[in-house]
Amino acid sequence: MLKATTEVVDPVCGMTVVPDKAAGTATYKGKTYYFCSTQCVAKFKANPQTYVREYAAPAERPAMRALGSHPIVREPVGPLWVGHQSQRAIDQAAVHTDSVTMGWAAPFHDALCSSLGIGRSFRRETLRLANIATGDRVLDVGCGTGVLTRLAADAGGPPGSATGIDPSAAMITGARRKAVFEGSSAVFRLAAVEELPFADGAFDVVVSSFTLHHLPPEVKRIGLREVYRVPRDGGRLFAVDIDRPANALWWLLVWPLLFTSSAAANLYGDVLAYLQRAGFAPVEVLARNWELVTSWSATKPLVSTSGRMKQRPFDAWPVH
Ligand SMILES: C[S@@+](CC[C@H](N)C(=O)[O-])C[C@H]1O[C@@H](n2cnc3c(N)ncnc32)[C@H](O)[C@@H]1O
Repeated sequence: MLKATTEVVDPVCGMTVVPDKAAGTATYKGKTYYFCSTQCVAKFKANPQTYVREYAAPAERPAMRALGSHPIVREPVGPLWVGHQSQRAIDQAAVHTDSVTMGWAAPFHDALCSSLGIGRSFRRETLRLANIATGDRVLDVGCGTGVLTRLAADAGGPPGSATGIDPSAAMITGARRKAVFEGSSAVFRLAAVEELPFADGAFDVVVSSFTLHHLPPEVKRIGLREVYRVPRDGGRLFAVDIDRPANALWWLLVWPLLFTSSAAANLYGDVLAYLQRAGFAPVEVLARNWELVTSWSATKPLVSTSGRMKQRPFDAWPVH
């Protein structure tokens, strides 16, 4: 039995809650969970396994290695919406990835994006190009603080759904808080693209915004195979990210990124080949922005009469 003053973590939004001040409770598999708001209670009751699995002991999720635990509790990691997140909750929830996560930037991520010209109006344009229809089940890979996921939830549902995944616990915590604050139906899960916790064909559309350049070559290959697995046949991936610069000024600014394994493939213009080699066909360029950013639409082919389209073997992939 918990002491009434012992703080626990709300499994939906990650906030710390004192049990006797909780806005609600729910029992799942014999364990009682405490919540900061009635919205969190409702989200949990609708889909408890989504939230409980992430806080399970590392041994229960063998493929996702938990980061080391740190004995720091209640260390604020940012203002307001991540201000009450305890470091312990972050560490328990973090999943391992070999790519570049951005947890440190979570508190100011949205402001940073707006200052770089990829604020809400750019996101709306992204969703217009992604052509989300009412009822679509949308997955946002590398969702960050979830701005695109929440807009996708507005565009697709109900009866559609929008789920965001990210390996950064700080990002997911921020995304959940903002969803609760905005009353969004978007759901956020802690996961990496290398191992998506979803069944084959579980989505109509996968979106990914400025995440591919965070993935080193091996993670791009494995991750894009996973991304290919989760849309239904005939479904698609819509990706927007940096691509080969089209003018000398950009090259002057970005050439140091050629020394990072994650961004180099984007700058060499290899993303289209990566998408094709994951099995997508056709892969179309829908837009170019600022002579640097490209939007791709990649379709998962319908199963043909001769059998399912095969993904390419790894040795046929780009080298960058
Ligand atoms: C530049 S941010 C973009 C966030 C959001 N999509 C947006 O457009 O604002 C890149 C995101 O990719 C995430 N990321 C890095 N490695 C990843 C991986 N292996 N799987 C999924 N997401 C990853 C980072 O944690 C980060 O939140």
